[in-house]
Amino acid sequence: MKPLVSLKNISFGYKREKPLLQEINLQLFPQEKIGLIGPNGAGKTTLAFLITGLIQPWQGEIEILGQVCKEEKDFQKIRSKIGFVFQNADDQLIFPTVLEDVAFGPLNQGLKPEQALEKAKKTLKQLNIERLASRNTFNLSGGEKKIVSIATVLSMEPQMLILDEPTVGLDENSRDKLIEILNNLELAYLIISHDYDFLARTTDKQLILKDKKIIYDPSVVLHKHEHAHPLGYVYHTHK
Ligand SMILES: Nc1ncnc2c1ncn2[C@@H]1O[C@H](COP(=O)(O)OP(=O)(O)OP(=O)(O)O)[C@@H](O)[C@H]1O
Ligand SMILES: [Mg+2]
Repeated sequence: MKPLVSLKNISFGYKREKPLLQEINLQLFPQEKIGLIGPNGAGKTTLAFLITGLIQPWQGEIEILGQVCKEEKDFQKIRSKIGFVFQNADDQLIFPTVLEDVAFGPLNQGLKPEQALEKAKKTLKQLNIERLASRNTFNLSGGEKKIVSIATVLSMEPQMLILDEPTVGLDENSRDKLIEILNNLELAYLIISHDYDFLARTTDKQLILKDKKIIYDPSVVLHKHEHAHPLGYVYHTHK
């Protein structure tokens, strides 16, 4: 089986002579669900930018869907096949209303306006957020923004997803909803997160980015753990 993403010996740094990532090798295969963990500033978001061609590596080769991608024009062809959900939802949402934002991708892919709107509505339904369709994106709550940014990429029917810190700012309910959505997707994805428990429930394999390298230790098994209840006396329910 051919990988959807293949990084070969990728090195990159923002400052000359100061590599942030060194000889990184990474592959994402169809249906594969990978988690990427690592300290703040390790270069996880940078790695996602490299995969989507937003920045170019110093050296190494990036192959997406069997195509070697070097320049912007190579990435332009495949970018809508990679649903990249940014760490900051405000970078993703650009239109006044949710429906317009979710329809933008399909419109850009060449669908007629009515078809694009239809697809956007379908995606909102799939994520159970139809009620947000006519809301202004700028006054959504943080969690709502996050789910809407996921909708903006799913509406393009990508072949894979890259989610950068998808649980930040989500309450337990929205986080559970997102876990359910991801578990029901038949898509390959790479999730960048500091949330071990979330990765344990959404990914099959976890990689660590540390000291410029990716480490994979198959003996490391993430486990679900009990959580403390600061509001233990306040009425609450568990699913
Ligand atoms: N455009 C830029 N120019 C210079 N340095 C940058 C730039 N973008 C990021 N950096 C630096 O590169 C390093 C890696 O950043 P990156 O955002 O990839 O880390 P990260 O692993 O995603 O961290 P976090 O867990 O905090 O999201 C950081 O030290 C950051 O300050
Ligand atoms: Mg980051």
